[in-house]
Formats: sequence, structure tokens, C-alpha cells
Amino acid sequence: MKVLLLGSGGREHALAWKLTRSPLLDRLYCAPGNAGIALIASCIPLDMGDQDAVCRFCKQEGIDLVVIGPEAPLVAGLADALAAEGIKAFGPSKAAARLEGSKGFTKDLCARYGIPTAAYARFDDQDAAKAYLATQKLPLVIKADGLAAGKGVTIAQTLGEAEAAIDACFAGAFGAGGAELVIEEFLEGEEASFFALIDGTTALPLATAQDHKRAFDGDRGPNTGGMGAYSPAPIMTPALCRRVMAEIIEPTMGAMAEAGTPFKGVLYAGLMIKDGLPKLIEYNVRFGDPECQVLMLRLKSDLLPALIATADGTLRDIELEWSQQPALAVVMAAQGYPGAYAKGSEIKGLDAAAADSHVQIFHAGTRREGDRIVADGGRVLDVAASGKSVSEARAHAYAAIDKIDWPGGFYRRDIGWRAVGGAQTVVGD
Ligand code: AMP
Ligand code: GLY
Repeated sequence: MKVLLLGSGGREHALAWKLTRSPLLDRLYCAPGNAGIALIASCIPLDMGDQDAVCRFCKQEGIDLVVIGPEAPLVAGLADALAAEGIKAFGPSKAAARLEGSKGFTKDLCARYGIPTAAYARFDDQDAAKAYLATQKLPLVIKADGLAAGKGVTIAQTLGEAEAAIDACFAGAFGAGGAELVIEEFLEGEEASFFALIDGTTALPLATAQDHKRAFDGDRGPNTGGMGAYSPAPIMTPALCRRVMAEIIEPTMGAMAEAGTPFKGVLYAGLMIKDGLPKLIEYNVRFGDPECQVLMLRLKSDLLPALIATADGTLRDIELEWSQQPALAVVMAAQGYPGAYAKGSEIKGLDAAAADSHVQIFHAGTRREGDRIVADGGRVLDVAASGKSVSEARAHAYAAIDKIDWPGGFYRRDIGWRAVGGAQTVVGD
């Protein structure tokens, strides 16, 4: 089969790494890819925002499956454009991608179907949103309705912070994504990420994970796309996973099918767990990054048939086998991320770091310049490892990082602290 993978992050490198191990794969293209993906796939300069160009390329090359990594092309309707040309794609339609593309849409769906989530209200008017604040208890969570590159959520501890978040949103801080907003109750508890493949009418749970959203050790500093992850999430017991399927994933799948907009793709539920009960924080309609990296390390089965079955509506025939060994990934980011950062600093020592057979290095934002690999993004590398325990996986990952020579980067030294022991522990130094 010929597969086109769209995206350029660590998530896509992990998907590419797993896809290239499939006996069904003849050729893997990736657009635009990165320096790591270029070692295992044919990277092409195709703009995934240009739906006509993507369709033309697929027809020219006889692509059998398009795997759409990030959310923006899904929310823009790329899967629909491909379907209209008879090209198979892994990823939901524009209507189904509203589960990520509009937080208000998802909250309304939860309310209609009794799916547990934080209490909320939707606003498209600044004054009405501010008036509502006075009726609620702090802290409150203010969210831009649409896509905001992970920056559209403010946890407001004071009325002033809440008002400032509302002002920023309506002043265009998140572009069109902020034309509407959701104000919701602050949920306490422990977060976990839950993933399921859905083919419209069948949902197949994948493994669980936990990520670290804050930039610095001790879960401090600004929110990021994710600074590290591990799988499985110890808090997600089998009973809790069954509960998430029954109370959150399956009702959502049913609601989407009933509305005539069935969801097909991977549904990523961000959960808050308190007293053993799960509540939905939000949906994403794609794999998490860096959660995907640890899932791919643990997936023993061939990924490609599962992605095809998701697109074809035959997931009931698929069974996936997972390694019992945990996996953990540490993100190396450019200094300054998630704020402004420089591009172009050289990264050395990658081959030495990858020599440990427990370790896989996924590139997230890199570019090749002659013989050199240079940083080309905010999140730049994911150093992932498996081991008999989270502690062991973590030791392998940090030992590999010690071999990487990249003064322009930084990383957290405490990835996996929740899984390693009750208290926060710091590795190294
Ligand atoms: P998001 O950018 O939507 O992934 O949200 C970023 C983070 O904000 C989540 O991972 C949670 O840590 C936090 N968050 C979002 N909504 C809530 C909520 N209702 N209560 C508590 N924390 C929340
Ligand atoms: N790691 C969080 C995300 O992919 O949204």
C-alpha cells in the first residue's frame, strides 16, 4: 500500500516509525515531515491546508490511505475533500471534527446525552460573559470556543483574570477561534488521556497515557503542547476504562451517528478523575502529542490494518495487542518555548543517544542542513523509551538525553513522577 501521512511533529514521526514496520506498506510519503521522518519516508513539500493539492497528489501517486495527523486540516474538512474524490483517509469529517473544533458544540452534546463534564455556559457577547462571572464561584475556566493552538484556555483564580481572559478572547487573541467562548466550572482531580479508535459505530479502546502540560519541573510554568508522557496511566484501572467507554466514549459515538455525522478516526478524551469517577475535560480528534509516541512504542500489533478498518467501518474485526511494558517520552524543547524561541541551533549526539535498544528518538521540530540536524520548532525532539517499569523506562530516556549535545534546548527532569512514586522526584543533577 501507498500511504500519505500529513504532519511534521513527534506524533507523526512515531506514526511513521510504526507504519514502516507494517508488512502491508509499500511506500510511505510524508508532508511536510521533518529530518527524522525523512530517514524513513519520502518527505514532500505539500501544503496540507491546500485540499486540492493534497487530492491531486493522492491521485497522481495512487495513494491508498491518507493519515491526517494534526487537527487543523481535519477541522477545515480535508477528510471530506478526500472522500469526495474517493480517496480513503484516517481522520474525521469536518462535521465530526467539531468535537475538537468547537468546545461549545461538545459541551452541548455532553449536556444532551448526560455525559459527565464540568458545568458550563456559552457566550458570543462580552458583556453577557462578564455578567455571568458574578454568578459563579472561582476559580473559573475560560475557553475560546475554536482552535487556539493549545493557548485558548485560562484558569482564572480572580475575577480580574477572568475578565481579562474574556477581553483577550473577544479582542481576537485567538483569531476566529475566539469569536465565542465557554466558561466552565473548575474541576479538581488527576488528569489522564484516553484514546479510542472509532469507525462510526464501533469503538476500540487503545492504551491510556498521562502527559505533563506545564513547561517546568514540578508541573510549574506556562501550559505547553505537552513536555512528556507515559503509558499506561496508573490511575486508569480496567474498571475505570470500562466506565469511560460506557459513560463518555460510546454515548458520544452514538450521538454523532444519530446526528448523521458519524465520527471516524481516533477520539482522544482528556479526562479529570476524582474519587474514581471520570469527567470529560475536552475532546481532541487526533492522537495526542507526545502521548502518541508512547502508545506507538507499546503497540505490538500492526497499526496500518487498524487505521484502514477505522476508515472502512470494520473495526469490530480488529484486536490490538499492547506490550505490558510501560513507555515514557521526554520532550526536548527550544529555550523560550512555549514563548518566543530561536531556530537553527545544532543538535549533536543523536546516534549515540539512540544506541540503547530501549530508546526511540522521535523528531518533533528538526531540519537537516547539510550534515547537521538543527532545531526548527518549539518542541524539537522526543526521547522515548520502554522498560519493565516506568522508573526503568525513565532511566533509559534520561540516560539517552545525557548523550544529546544541544545547548539550545531544555527539558523537564521529572517526567513520570506520578507513576514513579507518590511524591514528586527529580531525576539527575
Ligand atoms: P486544553 O488546552 O483544552 O487541553 O486545556 C488545557 C488544560 O487546562 C487541561 O489539560 C487541564 O489541565 C486544564 N483544564 C481545562 N478545563 C478545565 C476544567 N474545567 N477544570 C480544570 N482544569 C481544566
Ligand atoms: N499532549 C496534548 C495534546 O496533544 O493535545
